[in-house]
This record gives sequence, structure tokens and C-alpha cells, in this order.
Amino acid sequence: MANTEARGQWQSRLGFILAAAGSAIGLGNIVFFGANAYKYGAGAFYLPYLIALFTIGIPVMIVELGLGSLTRRAFPPSLHRLAGRFGEFWGWFALVSAFLVTMYYITILSWTFGMLIGALGTLWQPEQALTAFPAVKSLPNPMGYFFDMISGWLPLAFVVIIWVANLVIILRGVSQIERINRIFLPLMWLFMLFLIVRGLTLPQGLEGLYLLFTPNFEAMKDIAIWKGAFSQIFFTLSLGFGVMTAYASYLPKDADQVGNPLIISFMNCCFEFLAGIAVFTMLFSFAIVPQASTLSMTFFVIPQGIAQMPGGMLVVQGFGVLFFVLLLLAGISSSVSLVEAPMSALIDKFGMSRRHLVPLIGGLGIMGSAAFALPFVVDPGLDSNGTLGLTLLDLIDHWAFSYGLLLGGLVECVIVGWFFGADKLRARINQHASLHLPALFDVFVKWVIPAVLIYILASSAWQEFGGIYGHNYVIKGFQPWLPVLCFLIWLAGGGLLSALLTFSREYPLQEEQL
Ligand code: PHE
Repeated sequence: MANTEARGQWQSRLGFILAAAGSAIGLGNIVFFGANAYKYGAGAFYLPYLIALFTIGIPVMIVELGLGSLTRRAFPPSLHRLAGRFGEFWGWFALVSAFLVTMYYITILSWTFGMLIGALGTLWQPEQALTAFPAVKSLPNPMGYFFDMISGWLPLAFVVIIWVANLVIILRGVSQIERINRIFLPLMWLFMLFLIVRGLTLPQGLEGLYLLFTPNFEAMKDIAIWKGAFSQIFFTLSLGFGVMTAYASYLPKDADQVGNPLIISFMNCCFEFLAGIAVFTMLFSFAIVPQASTLSMTFFVIPQGIAQMPGGMLVVQGFGVLFFVLLLLAGISSSVSLVEAPMSALIDKFGMSRRHLVPLIGGLGIMGSAAFALPFVVDPGLDSNGTLGLTLLDLIDHWAFSYGLLLGGLVECVIVGWFFGADKLRARINQHASLHLPALFDVFVKWVIPAVLIYILASSAWQEFGGIYGHNYVIKGFQPWLPVLCFLIWLAGGGLLSALLTFSREYPLQEEQL
């Protein structure tokens, strides 16, 4: 097994915190939060969100980081140390879900790259002819630009560009990841400040703020809001996929794993609230009603707001470029962490070098991301998702994201809480922590968090009995097996691959006592 020198280590605590915050702050903060908040009635969302943060988000982050610095191994091997092959299997399964999400996360970043090019000019033209969608003919921009782009082959080239950017960073290991985050993170805050100041100074911008921060207790009775808040917290804090464990495995054993998660969560959620303010002030000012979907928020709704900024074409182009560059910086610092999770796991399991793993992970990743960018039109009337790529993205996202993320969180809490002992982990963490974890932590890890996650997962699964997700889509030529295939890719494909990886080789003897 690769030793600590070969695995690498963060240069400083600040470097680690910036890298972990870089992972956490991503598309989830800038657009998904706003879209979710809007979907669940704005003011109704942030209280469940805050409750989810304190009851589940921060404790799970403590568990996930604790696992990494305790074992100094990636997610599957660290779960192996706590619960043998059973733990390892679930560790790999989480990574398979994570890799599926990585693939389309990078496709979304590739489209963002395409939008950035558009922001220099064509994106702001009033409308776009759509030759690939005969039933629609043309659409107002930015929507028209987006659908025209994704029904062409160019995004496949962008997929390669974004993957290469990720691989170049990862090839050099954690020191390089640390270096880029030291640059990206301050830039992200700076760009976000520009957007907020602009949003707040728009006419009626402030009223958008009231909308976001006026609680709506009535709406909070809806269980869907709570599900939305818990998923958002998991995604935004990069939990459930073993990413934080991988990052923490490059820390020294005596890292402060109460202080670190608190700082990382605080940085992430501050950024998220600021992004929410920037988005809501702008949309409110221009009386734009966001559609529920997170992708439409990114690619049509926010750009539509930018298009209406006063001050002329140059201002619009400037803010457009700023917004898409911000998304790319935030997105790449997150995707790098998503790629590092399987990288570190494979290094630990097979003792392979980064140089050998880069073509393997990159090759698989590019193929997957390219599948999500496939431009074939399967729904000429644009009633659901339009292209084959976008349809695949929607279907896989439903499984790998909605279920995979929470399942990963459940598994780690059960293994730490019941197999290893939450009290044991707490004692370990407290040895080096500036703030001590109270005994209540054990109750949360053993009971509260698993109960909530099981409830959410089971009630979501129950709804699938009404018809598998996506069964009612218009998918020309693929009815009705594409939704079933996507489900099987995730569950059966993921399960098989995880079993293969688990049983392919025994971990070398680990004499070190935990
Ligand atoms: N937290 C990232 C975001 O908000 C996404 C992410 C999820 C990254 C899980 C790593 C692991 O966009």
C-alpha cells in the first residue's frame, strides 16, 4: 500500500480548508440553492435548511472528515478498517454513484463553458432558430442558445477540455489541488461580491431579499421541503460520496476535526446565502419567475436576468462573462474533489500511481460525460428534456444523486455509529479538537441521522412504485426501456462493480491500531 509520503499531504491547515471549501462551494451554492429555495417557496426553505445543516450536515461532515484523518485512507479502505468487506463494498458503491454524478457535473461545466463563449456575443441576441427541433422552430435567448448548443457536437469538445483541466490538476496530487484552490477561492468571493452589490442596487432588488428571508411556517408542513433541504445540505457540503474522507486522508492524524468542519461548513453556507441574495435580488428586480429545474436556473433564468441589466451591451456581456467564469471556477474546484475521491481509493487499493490512473479515470470519465452531451434529439417538441444527453442526465441524476448521496451518508453513520462506535470516534476526535464534541453527537450519529435518512430514502422509494422515474417522458425511440436501463446502470452496474472491487484483492495487512 502506498505510504504517507507517496499519498501526499496538505502543506498547511489553511490549504486543506481552502481545498475542502473549494469542493463544497460549487454549482450547488450558486444555482441549485436559489432554484431549490424558489421551488419550495423562498422564505419557507431556509429554516429547514438551517435545521438540516446543524442536525445532519455538520455531524456527517465531522464523521466523514474524522474517518479520513483517523485512518488516513480513502473512503472504501477507511470503511473496510471499521467494518471489513461489508463496509468496503458500500464505500465503493458510494464512489460509483459519485463517479456518475462527476460525469454529468463535468458535462454541465462543459455547457457552462459553451455559455461563456456565447456570453461574449450571440447569447444576448433576442432569439435563436432551432433547426434540430422542428416542432419548436425558434426560442427566445438564452434558452434558444442553450438548446441550439446542446443539439450540436461542440459540447463534446468542451467535455474533453474540462476533463483535461481536472486531470492536469489531479495528476500532481494534493499540492496542486491546494495551489489552485488558493487562487480560485478568493476569486470566487470577489466575483460573488460584484454580483451581490449589483443585485442589491437594482431597483426593487431589496424586495427580493425580503422574499428570501421571510419565513413561511405554513409551507414548512410540506415534507417535500424537508427532503429538499436535506438533499441540498448533503450536496452543497460534498457529503455522502467520500470526497471529504479522501481530502481528510491527506491530513496529519492530529488535525482538529471539529474546528475544520465548522469552518468549512460556515464558509460554504455563507457563500450559499450570498449567492441566494445575488440571485433573488436580480430575479425579483426583473420580475422573472424561475422555473423549478436547477439547470434552467443556471442556463436560462439567471442569464435572462443578466440580459436585462441596465447600462448597455458591454455591461451585460461583462456580467455574463463574470457569472459563467464564476461557475467554472466554483465547478472545477468541486469536480476536482469528485475525481480525487476514486483516485485516492484506487491508489490505496491497488498501489497504482497517479500517472497510471489518470488515463483510466480520464478515459472512463470522458466517455461518460460525452454520453450526457449526446446531441440526438429524442423529444422534438421539447416537452421534457430535448436531447438524449439531457434525458440521460435527468434519469441518472435521479438515482445517483437523489438516492446515492443519502445512501452514502446513511452507510457511513451506521458503520461509524454501530460497527466502530460513535463514542470511540468522538473520543478520538476530541483528543485533538479545539472544541469538544458532546455526548449528544453519538445519539445523532447512531439514531437521529440514520432514522431521518432511512425515512427520506424509503418514502422516495415508495413513490417509485407508482411508475419508475421518467416513465412518462417523451423519449422517441427509447420507450419505455431507457428509464429502466438508467436505474439498472446505477443499481446493478454499481453493485457489481463495487463487489468486484471489494473482492478483487485483500488490503495489505494493517498493523496500525485504530
Ligand atoms: N458541493 C459541490 C457543489 O455544491 C458538489 C459536490 C458534491 C462536490 C459532492 C463533491 C461531492 O456543487
